[in-house]
Amino acid sequence: MAHEYGLKIKPIQWDNGVVRWIDVSRLPWEEVWRETRSVERLARAIESMEIRGAPAIGVAAALGIAMAAYNSNASSLEELRRTVLNAAERLRRTRPTAYNLFWAIDRMLGILGRDAAGPEEMVDMLVEEALRIMREDIETNMRMGRIGAELIEDGDIVLTHCNTGALATAGYGTALGVIRAAWSEGKHIQVIATETRPLLQGARLTVWELVKEGIPVRLITDSMAGYVMSKNMVSKVLVGADRILVTGHVANKIGTYMLAVLAERHRIPFYVVAPTSTIDPSGDPGSMVIEERSPDEVRTILGRMLITVPEVEVYNPAFDITPPELITGIITEKGVAKPPYTESLRRLMGKDS
Ligand code: MRU
Repeated sequence: MAHEYGLKIKPIQWDNGVVRWIDVSRLPWEEVWRETRSVERLARAIESMEIRGAPAIGVAAALGIAMAAYNSNASSLEELRRTVLNAAERLRRTRPTAYNLFWAIDRMLGILGRDAAGPEEMVDMLVEEALRIMREDIETNMRMGRIGAELIEDGDIVLTHCNTGALATAGYGTALGVIRAAWSEGKHIQVIATETRPLLQGARLTVWELVKEGIPVRLITDSMAGYVMSKNMVSKVLVGADRILVTGHVANKIGTYMLAVLAERHRIPFYVVAPTSTIDPSGDPGSMVIEERSPDEVRTILGRMLITVPEVEVYNPAFDITPPELITGIITEKGVAKPPYTESLRRLMGKDS
């Protein structure tokens, strides 16, 4: 089937105490796989965006905690707990915005509260939980794909931002998963991918994934979005999310808010696609931490070419917040939430999938 490639890419893997991942910072130039038994190395991989995308970060952190436990040789439950808590504390400090990171770490720490006869049994329980989180992410993406594909019509041109595909998850993808599912159902769709400055996840990763599967894609620079919308070249906008508040405020890759404003201006449906593990049940928009990254990401093209005066001051927020009134619907594995989100998201979260 056409969408199988998205399932074949398993960007993060577990192999008897070793975590392996495809270094997406090297794509599309080369497919480099990395591996480690070290929590510090894994944390740096998340910080430097060898692993990125909210669900992928969550899965990597869960496997990182399992890895710390597996390799600890702890002789008591107390010693194992200390190792796990240290790993969790380091991984929590990697990236502040993606809620899936904290969700996955808390789920792993929940295992520590369970009874175990000794450290070996606890290690097994932690590894099982991490593998379950990874498996569930793929299942969730496929379910979201099917649900979201119902909203896509034959002939649609879908604009998407950043990369929300197999490379941003345990496999298949969120917004790109919906595109994959619609395509595999035989809908003749086309994709417009924004390049997504400064780190070019759209140009490097989304295009790479779509080209591999033969899904028609055209690449634009971020500043072309308004023009293509004004020319009736976009039927729907589909984006992912790093954190969704129950109010319906969505933190996602910088530029998402701009696309939502433009979509409203041109009366184009604007959908967010994300698993319920991205929904932060607490907090208000003011409490959301928006990660600020190195100025050099803006001063250069991927660190390779300086494009400005080296000493220029830079502002480099990695995410922005789209308010609920600009969002047509939030597609999750439990169904599509519609405004008012405070009611619909709570209802969905309480539901079994
Ligand atoms: O900085 P990144 O590349 O980790 O940002 C990724 C995004 O903003 C994605 O849209 C989001 O994490 C959803 S990925 C399925």
